[in-house]
Amino acid sequence: MKKLVFLTGAGISAESGITTFRDSGGLWEQYPVQQVASIEGYWADPELVINFYNERRRQLSQVKPNRAHKIVAELQERYDVVVVTQNVDNLHEMAGSRNVVHLHGELTKATSTDSPNNPSQIVELDGDIKIGDKAKDGSQLRPFIVWFGEAVPMIEPAAIAVNQADIVVVVGTSLNVYPAAGLLSYAKRGAEIYLIDPKPNVPQGLGVHVIAKKATEGMAELQNLLS
Ligand code: OAD
Repeated sequence: MKKLVFLTGAGISAESGITTFRDSGGLWEQYPVQQVASIEGYWADPELVINFYNERRRQLSQVKPNRAHKIVAELQERYDVVVVTQNVDNLHEMAGSRNVVHLHGELTKATSTDSPNNPSQIVELDGDIKIGDKAKDGSQLRPFIVWFGEAVPMIEPAAIAVNQADIVVVVGTSLNVYPAAGLLSYAKRGAEIYLIDPKPNVPQGLGVHVIAKKATEGMAELQNLLS
């Protein structure tokens, strides 16, 4: 089976009703990113940051995967698929994807403030986090989100997956945030690279096939191209 890696961003979940970050009207126009999505912001006001992610989690409970997530999952029948996502939603899993690498964490999990990347501290979350809720190590429970200013532990397995891929498909990311944005440079020589985005930010020098469409339409086109 050929190896197919998807690199997905907020755009793949846009048609499910989740707001992207940098489009006009996006989340970072509504909230100061340094305040709600950086480790400094968390130290400055943990409650504000915890509540921001409580709100995101409540929204997630009201949305469903769209056709693009479903096609990603269907392609597992014909390819060895790894999904590397910057998204903190769980719509790939809900659509049936079995091998999902979350670079920026998961809304449906919580962890310890003292040791956020210690696997033994990470727990499934049902509902809101409140100030005073404790992780297993006794520190404040916090969202399992990788904030600006923090390490990105899943970048290494993601880079290995991209390096082994025969086909890499980028869907719905502005490719603005590193290290995720640098992952394409790990693609091996001869790998086919596709980019699906209505406003594609095309990396130069990689011979990328651009499908300048929304995720649902672009993924349907890709499915035909691959058959
Ligand atoms: P962005 O908001 O930066 O980019 C969203 C991309 O999706 C843009 O290129 C849009 O053109 C595209 N887009 C919009 N609607 C679409 C649709 N219906 N179908 C396909 N594409 C569409 O989001 P990301 O690149 O995912 O990290 O942002 C990366 C990271 O920045 C996030 O994971 C988050 C944020 O800060 C953290 O908070 C750590």
